Amino acid sequence: MSSGRDSISMSAGLAICVVALALASAAQLASSRPTTFAQDFQVAWADTHVRQIDGGRAVQLLLDQNSGCGFASKRKYLFGQVSMRIKLVPGDSAGTVAAFYLKLNSDTAGVRDELDFEFLGNRSGQPYTVQTNIFAHGKGDREQRVNLWFDPSADFHLYRIRWSHSQIVYYVDDVPVRVFKNNEAKGVGYPNSQPMGVYSTLWEADDWATRGGLEKIDWTKAPFVAHYKDFDIEGCPVPGPARCASNPTNWWEGANYKGLTALEARKYRWVRVNHMIYDYCTDKSRFPVPPPECTAGI
Ligand SMILES: *[C@@H]1O[C@H](CO)[C@@H](O)[C@H](O)[C@H]1NC(C)=O
Repeated sequence: MSSGRDSISMSAGLAICVVALALASAAQLASSRPTTFAQDFQVAWADTHVRQIDGGRAVQLLLDQNSGCGFASKRKYLFGQVSMRIKLVPGDSAGTVAAFYLKLNSDTAGVRDELDFEFLGNRSGQPYTVQTNIFAHGKGDREQRVNLWFDPSADFHLYRIRWSHSQIVYYVDDVPVRVFKNNEAKGVGYPNSQPMGVYSTLWEADDWATRGGLEKIDWTKAPFVAHYKDFDIEGCPVPGPARCASNPTNWWEGANYKGLTALEARKYRWVRVNHMIYDYCTDKSRFPVPPPECTAGI
């Protein structure tokens, strides 16, 4: 870029300089993500069972009869996007649950906000189930389940939660598997004022996870190991820059992210038709009258 510069005017040169600087800092931003584990995360539970590998760019979570384990973000965030690549427990993983979630830790009634991705293991050859749930101001009970259309233990796949003022979208690779619109105008609570931490855990839940608790963990297969890498958090840290969360120029608040794109909407429909195995919205035994967000349209 510098070689052709002498022939152009001062102001154009300056403009190019500014652009070059902007590009350089954008490149720097891009190259600093995804980050190492230790940059944004720390072990939160059983450090004997969390192994950093690949120069800290990946971690292994172990579950055995002594303990599960987990990690958490060092900071809390209000709106943004969190993603990581996960390779789930291979083989006979029945009774194990790996999770990736955002949460505001609080036992105070009416306060808890939480966005859950839970991966329920299965017997060898049976499909993993992904359960999602959403708590807003203490109200949860919004489970949905899809069976994955690939073996998530064979390779890393990208799992992502994007949270803006307009909607919350959970993605598996580029496929939206869950959409929760901001329906505050219709009286549905929406997580919009409290920062949440980012967490991942691996634990035993054989009382409920696999086929409703019928399939128990086979401890002869322990330790169970899940791999995590490519940690990426883009969001407004709290405490952090004032008014970041309400800034309409944050990319996740952009026009393209106010709803699903046409392609995403097609993929989302495909998942719902072909892979959804449970939706609280249609569970008449739990909700004779569907909850308001279920009939508000997506
Ligand atoms: C496990 O596999 C069974 C049989 O294919 C399936 O019904 C179930 O949804 C799968 N997942 C879980 C978590 O039980």
